Amino acid sequence: MKNIVWHPNKVTRNDREKIKNQKGCVLWFTGLSGSGKSTIANELEYELNKMRYHTYLLDGDNIRHGLIKNLGFSDLDRKENIRRISEVAKLFVDAGIITITAFISPFIEDREKAREIIGTKNFIEVFVDTPLEVCIQRDPKGLYKKALNGEIKNFTGIDSPYERPLSPEIIIDTKKYDIISSVSLIIDYLKNKKYLDFR
Ligand SMILES: Nc1ncnc2c1ncn2[C@@H]1O[C@H](COP(=O)(O)OP(=O)(O)O)[C@@H](O)[C@H]1O
Ligand SMILES: [Mg+2]
Repeated sequence: MKNIVWHPNKVTRNDREKIKNQKGCVLWFTGLSGSGKSTIANELEYELNKMRYHTYLLDGDNIRHGLIKNLGFSDLDRKENIRRISEVAKLFVDAGIITITAFISPFIEDREKAREIIGTKNFIEVFVDTPLEVCIQRDPKGLYKKALNGEIKNFTGIDSPYERPLSPEIIIDTKKYDIISSVSLIIDYLKNKKYLDFR
């Protein structure tokens, strides 16, 4: 950008990571409403925190109260929403934080954009794969009922599409995995890929 010059920080990402004994990364949860993103993401953060890792959870509904409160659910707004979250997540990665995002993020193109902004080596796409019928049955917030009655427009899975990830780093089939085993699966992945205890 014209007349704006990047000033390199004296403390680097690596310096920040070293004292935390971890690598910054983004666990990008995607899945239908009610698939279990917030539930698993919360439990995951809880476990990592107990293990003394440094985390931060950016959850769709909470972020909608502030950073993206001026955005709705049109395709265009969803795009801008994901772009803004990605830029924030990128800063968290630079801070050396294990960052967890829990947004439906229904479009492949937007998730690929997020991967590009955040950097593919920092980006772990976690697909919470729960069939639509199960989500409708769970309906934890009563939103499917409203969407099916036409009270909510552009609801993912009802009158707005969800594009399944083609090659996510982690797939969680919540028909097979309960919440605890889903969390273990992700922590094992982080250990195997050396995001944790990398000294
Ligand atoms: N195996 C499972 N994994 C995650 N959530 C589950 C599972 N089985 C049942 N649930 C329930 O499904 C609901 C998921 O809701 P939530 O986490 O808010 O979804 P999302 O954030 O994806 O919209 C919760 O009520 C949770 O208790
Ligand atoms: Mg949620």
